[in-house]
Amino acid sequence: MKDGRQPTRCEMTRVCYANAGFAPGTDSRIMKLFVTGACGYKGTVLVPKLLAAGHEVLAFDIMWFGNYLRPHSGLTVVQGDVRDVDEIHLEGADAIVHLASVANDPCGDLDPKLTWEIGCLATMQLADKAARAGVRRFLYASSGSVYGVKDEPQVTEDLTLDPISEYNKTKMVAERVAEHAPARITVTESNDPRSYRINSDRLLATGFRPKKTVDDAIRELVHRFRRGELRDEERFHNLEWMRREVVN
Ligand SMILES: NC(=O)c1ccc[n+]([C@@H]2O[C@H](COP(=O)([O-])OP(=O)(O)OC[C@H]3O[C@@H](n4cnc5c(N)ncnc54)[C@H](O)[C@@H]3O)[C@@H](O)[C@H]2O)c1
Repeated sequence: MKDGRQPTRCEMTRVCYANAGFAPGTDSRIMKLFVTGACGYKGTVLVPKLLAAGHEVLAFDIMWFGNYLRPHSGLTVVQGDVRDVDEIHLEGADAIVHLASVANDPCGDLDPKLTWEIGCLATMQLADKAARAGVRRFLYASSGSVYGVKDEPQVTEDLTLDPISEYNKTKMVAERVAEHAPARITVTESNDPRSYRINSDRLLATGFRPKKTVDDAIRELVHRFRRGELRDEERFHNLEWMRREVVN
């Protein structure tokens, strides 16, 4: 990385962080945040947390899977496509959290051109627009899957990136694309304790301790299933839904 920092080993989502002004984690003021892919799996959890912390959020999403964000005085939701960079208005944004992508391997394989256009081309155009507009931070959600399948028992940042699917490849290349935006790039620790075999030592060394375990998650899922809150609806079958509604 340009400033010599190394990405943490344990993250499932590698977060690439373009920082035009200050050190990561030192700025606690209320911000105006532009969140792409805000209506997806991660965004639907992240956005309420950002709002609860007092930030203003503009949620930007093509809404392939709908929008389940609850209305909030600090929230503006815009339906749009990150590929239409001219339609994106960043005035007043302090930071961008860029989540929009075709976000898993089988969906990425459905239409590789779409996957690359959203994952890389749009990311490059958005990062470039952000830098020109003076947006101070750009957080790009990459993926631990960029390491591919390793024989080593501990997957650390010292190992090569060997992405194996279209999805993984777009994630790896978009990290590199972001480095060419006119901003200083750092890669920061994730506080996501989940991992496949990706080593967590560096994350734990920061003092972070996971509050929730995989066992907790399984217990919650079972509990909600028994209460009838997890329903077998077509839109929850991500691959089939994408095949039918998006790529046809
Ligand atoms: N979920 C995970 O465990 C995980 C792990 C590693 C990395 N990530 C990364 O985190 C990000 C979010 O993942 P997720 O699981 O929430 O995915 P998701 O598929 O649930 O959400 C992605 C969202 O992006 C939107 N989107 C797609 N193309 C768009 C476009 N052209 N313009 C505007 N919006 C668009 C979709 O409508 C969707 O709401 C992705 O970049 C993904 O690669 C996720």
